Amino acid sequence: MSYINTLFSICKYKILYINSAVDLQKVEQRVQVKLVPITLDNVTFVRSFKGKSDVNKFRRFLNTGELGFYAEVNSEIVGHIWVKHCAQPEKNIRGYIDLLEDEAVIHHIHVASEYRSQHIFQMMLYDAVRHIFSQKNIKRLLADVETGNTASLRGFEKVGFKYLDKELFVIRILRRVVYRRIFYLKI
Ligand SMILES: CC(C)(COP(=O)(O)OP(=O)(O)OC[C@H]1O[C@@H](n2cnc3c(N)ncnc32)[C@H](O)[C@@H]1OP(=O)(O)O)[C@@H](O)C(=O)NCCC(=O)NCCS
Repeated sequence: MSYINTLFSICKYKILYINSAVDLQKVEQRVQVKLVPITLDNVTFVRSFKGKSDVNKFRRFLNTGELGFYAEVNSEIVGHIWVKHCAQPEKNIRGYIDLLEDEAVIHHIHVASEYRSQHIFQMMLYDAVRHIFSQKNIKRLLADVETGNTASLRGFEKVGFKYLDKELFVIRILRRVVYRRIFYLKI
């Protein structure tokens, strides 16, 4: 994120959802990807392709019961994905998302830049969604994606996610959400 974006940013997000693992679409495999659960023992592995600050963030996610997975290719960690499940309704998750009881949100997705466009994200998403629906009582799995993030939107669509009829508009100052508005789309 650039210095200006750290001070002030305006973002618009599309919201995608999937209601069941039955709605998943098969992914065309381009490389062999293994999904590895993130634990306190391997949390520091993220340093190999991202900064140190992610280690503390990941520890926080684990301590609040979130599920995280690494994508492993040829014994190398090349990506990650996280899921937060809300047993009770929860407002303003990450400052702007609202979840109902037994909804979950997918967030903090990343694939190392030299491994992109090989369907690693789609395979990680497919496996993570299957795992989560089999482990937890989840009614709906959501994801928020910036409207300009074409690769992410395309990946979600190809795995079977659909769009909600609303978008989020968020203003941040010093990375804190100071304003959010939900727009309902006419479909
Ligand atoms: C978004 C991200 C996770 C995608 O990872 P990836 O492993 O490259 O994605 P995949 O290869 O599984 O799928 C991406 C799809 O978008 C396409 N794509 C990639 N870049 C694109 C672009 N700039 N414009 C249009 N389509 C694009 C790919 O070709 C692929 O489509 P295909 O199946 O038809 O070939 C990765 O780019 C990333 O880590 N970005 C930075 C962090 C981020 O944006 N996280 C997501 C936040 S919601």
